[in-house]
Amino acid sequence: MALWDGRFSGGPSEEMLRFSESLEVDLQMFEEDVAGSMAHATMLGEVGLIPQEEAAALRHGLSEVLEELRSGAWAPSLSHEDIHMAVESRLTEKVGALGGKLHTARSRNDQVATDVRLWLKGHLAILDQQLTRLLGALLDRVDSDGRTLIPGFTHLQRGQPIWLGHHLLAYAWMISRDRERLRDAARRQDRCPLGAGAMAGTPHPIDRHRTAELLGFSGVVENAMDAVASRDHMQEVTAACAIAMTHLSRMAEELVMWSTREFALVRMGESWTTGSSIMPQKRNPDAAELVRGKAARVYGDLQALLVMTKALPLAYNRDLQEDKAALFDAVNTTLASTSVMAGMWESLTVNRARYTSELAGDFLLATEIADWLVNRGLPFRDAHRVSGKLVAWCEARGVGFEALTAEVLAEHHPLLDGSALEWLDPVAAAERRTSTGGTAWVEVSRQVLQLRELLSL
Ligand code: ARG
Repeated sequence: MALWDGRFSGGPSEEMLRFSESLEVDLQMFEEDVAGSMAHATMLGEVGLIPQEEAAALRHGLSEVLEELRSGAWAPSLSHEDIHMAVESRLTEKVGALGGKLHTARSRNDQVATDVRLWLKGHLAILDQQLTRLLGALLDRVDSDGRTLIPGFTHLQRGQPIWLGHHLLAYAWMISRDRERLRDAARRQDRCPLGAGAMAGTPHPIDRHRTAELLGFSGVVENAMDAVASRDHMQEVTAACAIAMTHLSRMAEELVMWSTREFALVRMGESWTTGSSIMPQKRNPDAAELVRGKAARVYGDLQALLVMTKALPLAYNRDLQEDKAALFDAVNTTLASTSVMAGMWESLTVNRARYTSELAGDFLLATEIADWLVNRGLPFRDAHRVSGKLVAWCEARGVGFEALTAEVLAEHHPLLDGSALEWLDPVAAAERRTSTGGTAWVEVSRQVLQLRELLSL
């Protein structure tokens, strides 16, 4: 017997019940559902819609239902359809006909909207903690291993020498923006839909502001139809999660690459790797690969949430029941991936000597010759060509820049002399880049301070 069966004689088929129930997903928010009902009961009592003793009895019954759900002593069944009806049915089994008063001046539409906003408030706070942790891990890594010289790549070809710290800070800034974006989105969850009813409000003298206050919201959703029909607050959280997953996935990809024998720049902590069932030597970076793979899931969640509301007439439509699976998955996946990524950074080791000798004489110093000539007054375009000719000269002889002499330089341009060779030092090349945001260590340190300040907020 459903709670809405008055106008039915037979009721929905078994298949329809199975098709339409959402209990598995809803069970993720039973705490929020009960909290919403508690606040609603309190408000009903305070405004005099029900006697205070009845409100207290409802709250008492609800707290018992909550305990049962937590302990597993009682679990909803298929016929309950969703968590709202499950809780109300169980409450009614406990408190009798009084349970029927709880649904005064509310609908499942505003109930579910409230539950999800409460869920998001709680989970976004946890996600914020994990993003903060990851940011801290990256900054600690800059402090400990940042002064490791690596090639900076464009097109995955060696470009210019940089400090590892410079590279890691690029990610740190991305993560700090993810954190900012999700905090901003969190502010917009902070409005209570409860009391909107089905979509038109209610004739009963409820106090929506009081319910909002009891639930810890800083205000109400002003329009009852907006309260039950809008999902943009979920979409923006999921969009922010999708962007964060892009950052995590790029980082994961680099960790996968860097931990290959070919790059050999990092060694993953054992706890984030797995072995192979056939190749005994293997220690695979599965955690990073999974982060990369899970980004795809979150993009799918965002797509689902956007398409679900496109051309959906106001107000509530049952399509919207699908929102929670996508939203919860996006947030839970981003949360888990952020935590795993933090764990990987906290435990990996950096092979600091990896590129030290290799980068001396490497063509990734070609820009240095061009910049040296610019200092002597040559236009950059011409200087670029001269340096390019020197690369070609070396390549034709199968040598690197270490083979260059003052004479060879002079043959290539009258302005070039032996002192240009001093610029062909990768550490000096990185350290010369002191422009704001450049790789020079002063700039790396300055950004670490800036980010540490953000971190503390
Ligand atoms: N389980 C439903 C959902 O998640 C709750 C709202 C149901 N409302 C309705 N009018 N059938 O959207």
